[in-house]
Amino acid sequence: MKSPLKNKWILITGASSGFGAAAAIAFGAEGAKLLLGARRIDRLKKVAAQSKKSGAEEVHFHELDVSKTAGVEKFIYWARKKIGGRNLYVLINNAGGAHGLDTIAEGKDADWEAMIQSNLLGVLRVTRAALPLIPRDTGASIINIGSVAGHAAYEGAAVYCAAKAGELQITRALRLELLGTGIRVGTVDPGLAETEFSLVRFKGNAVGAKKVYEGMNPLTAEDIAEILVWVASRLPHVNIDELIVKPVDQAAIGKVYRRKTK
Ligand SMILES: NC(=O)c1ccc[n+]([C@@H]2O[C@H](COP(=O)([O-])OP(=O)(O)OC[C@H]3O[C@@H](n4cnc5c(N)ncnc54)[C@H](OP(=O)(O)O)[C@@H]3O)[C@@H](O)[C@H]2O)c1
Repeated sequence: MKSPLKNKWILITGASSGFGAAAAIAFGAEGAKLLLGARRIDRLKKVAAQSKKSGAEEVHFHELDVSKTAGVEKFIYWARKKIGGRNLYVLINNAGGAHGLDTIAEGKDADWEAMIQSNLLGVLRVTRAALPLIPRDTGASIINIGSVAGHAAYEGAAVYCAAKAGELQITRALRLELLGTGIRVGTVDPGLAETEFSLVRFKGNAVGAKKVYEGMNPLTAEDIAEILVWVASRLPHVNIDELIVKPVDQAAIGKVYRRKTK
């Protein structure tokens, strides 16, 4: 059966690694046409080649820093030229991440600002710029990537939790604002997933980053990519509002089952 995503334009932010890269490959396998953005162009180039190999009809990539309004507008101008008007079927606002694990007392301005810029303001900027490209009444979707951190606070993560809680409320408000347009709006909110997320959070400390997943089976980027494809390929009248996805070994934030390691 032909995929409903075949030949459809899909825009993914943060497509250079983790969920975004896996999503590019998974949407590619549906025969979709891809627009990929992130700051690391060399990595985007690799993901583009992998997506093409997986079956993407077309793949294009362009530098994108969601923390800058001018950069976002330039990226969407480029995207508009590629797709030629109101043809964007799926927008995935995925770019983001956590920076540091400091308490509020020890918090660094640069980390706070980076988290608010990418996870919160980035979603707003990209959505505002891309909305004129999204067709009405065709089953088009805006899918934001939130987190379990948007649903519960934990120590050392106040600003990341705040940013993702903000993403959740932005998603809810947008769904209300777009009522009547036929544009679907939802959020997919993962728990522990092994991507480059922890490496970024631990500022390149690979040992510390690896320890996060010690003795447990985390989600993979491919698990989330498969879910994103599923969300975007429901019948046009079906809206997946909010989806929390955790590994079985994580009953709650901070409540993780770890097998004994030798
Ligand atoms: N892994 C988890 O456990 C987990 C759980 C819940 C939610 N999430 C969320 O899932 C999303 C993807 O994370 P991931 O796990 O796939 O981590 P990842 O492998 O580190 O990927 C993060 C992606 O976001 C991009 N990005 C970060 N800041 C950006 C900016 N200012 N402008 C443009 N792109 C930016 C990165 O690209 P460049 O560095 O090349 O720009 C990269 O492609 C994030 O929003 C994260 O908060 C992750």
